[in-house]
Amino acid sequence: MHVTNPAWAPSDWRAYPASHQPVWPVAADAHAAVEELRALPPLVFAGEARDLEAALGEVANGRAFLLQAGECAESFRDFSAVSIRERLKIFLQMSVVMIYGSGLPLVKVGRIAGQFAKPRSEPTEQIGEHELPSFFGHMVNDDAPTLEARTPDPARLLRVYHQSAATLNLVRAFTNGGFADLTQVHAWNQEFVASAPEGQRYEALAAEIERALDFVRACGIDVAQAQRLHRVDLWTSHEGLVLDYEEALTRRDSLTGDWYDCSAHMLWIGERTRRPDGAHVEFFAGVNNPLGVKVGPTAAADEVVELCERLDPARRPGRLTLIVRMGADRLVDGLPPIIRAVRASGHPVVWATDPMHANVFRTSSGVKTRSFEAIMDEIGAFFSICRNEGVWPGGLHIEFTGEDVTECLGGSAAVLEEELTMRYESLCDPRLNARQSLDLAFRVGQLMRDD
Ligand code: PEP
Ligand code: CO
Repeated sequence: MHVTNPAWAPSDWRAYPASHQPVWPVAADAHAAVEELRALPPLVFAGEARDLEAALGEVANGRAFLLQAGECAESFRDFSAVSIRERLKIFLQMSVVMIYGSGLPLVKVGRIAGQFAKPRSEPTEQIGEHELPSFFGHMVNDDAPTLEARTPDPARLLRVYHQSAATLNLVRAFTNGGFADLTQVHAWNQEFVASAPEGQRYEALAAEIERALDFVRACGIDVAQAQRLHRVDLWTSHEGLVLDYEEALTRRDSLTGDWYDCSAHMLWIGERTRRPDGAHVEFFAGVNNPLGVKVGPTAAADEVVELCERLDPARRPGRLTLIVRMGADRLVDGLPPIIRAVRASGHPVVWATDPMHANVFRTSSGVKTRSFEAIMDEIGAFFSICRNEGVWPGGLHIEFTGEDVTECLGGSAAVLEEELTMRYESLCDPRLNARQSLDLAFRVGQLMRDD
């Protein structure tokens, strides 16, 4: 069955108001870049997007959990096998902790291989004496504080494509080629994590898993033959923001004739671009990938239902994930009416929490940060509200890194305010470091068990 309108075309969005689009200095250059992209092979296949939809359908039905995690903004400079491997390690560690904690399958979706465009509240920023265009992600401009660097350059669209292709290739190799094998569970613990309390807790859990595998072997089951233990599925996702890029990678599936945005398995619409009559909703209504929509503190229940109607008219479990990001306090009054209205409308959405984006603040010295406790408070509030309202708290959406950065405050090995500038490497929002991420996974595993 088709999800979308058969008369839809990938360029239809151009007739609708499109906010947060780059203004390319030379339109002809942008056109040439888009034409070049259009001729390149897809990054993902339609059948994979359908498999992800089926997996998310299990989440919508309360039989699995979603972990969507990765960079706030990927970088052209941070592009190496080591960096991809370290991100994968923490993802795999969090996964086993959450699976072990909940006893449920986990759908793993990275903010990776395409997360290069950022919406910004202000089009310009003041740096010293200069007012410069804001940094919109490496898909659009460079972060260096000069006018030249900040000028949008459409050649970046192609560079994003090629970096995403290489990243995805390595992710596929790591996840299928032995690195993600469950018998490697100890090897994912990085040295600086292993020496910390959450790292030691992880070591104990890894030892239990190994004992369980020994037990299964001793019972005569051939663990080596059990494919599911030796590889994982890690799907890709990013915010579908720059529609020139998304349109150019949208292809008709040769098997079904349906349109898919082949830049990633899953795309989400951000908080700033989700107006139901806008270009982003028009575009994503037409592609058949699983979609996310951010739901922030200003979202009204009828507006969210309208988004569900536009994006999931066929009411397919797994098609739509609502990623709620309001902050713990706003959630208490804001979320229940939305849950009730969506449930009454019969849309089988995945309910996920993004406890990051409503919890950004600046310290007195001006450093952008988030506090670990505020993040945990929002997750806790989300779980308890979903349970009170009788829906499955199905997913967690976070920004993290495998590195030992100091960008978010707190955690079990608390990062202090005066330490924030020591290793602050994010191009955009502050990310949880590897230890904070693992700590969070243990706590969420506990919340999942506390049903
Ligand atoms: C993001 O996920 O990086 C982001 C910008 O989120 P939001 O649209 O929720 O602000
Ligand atoms: Co962010």
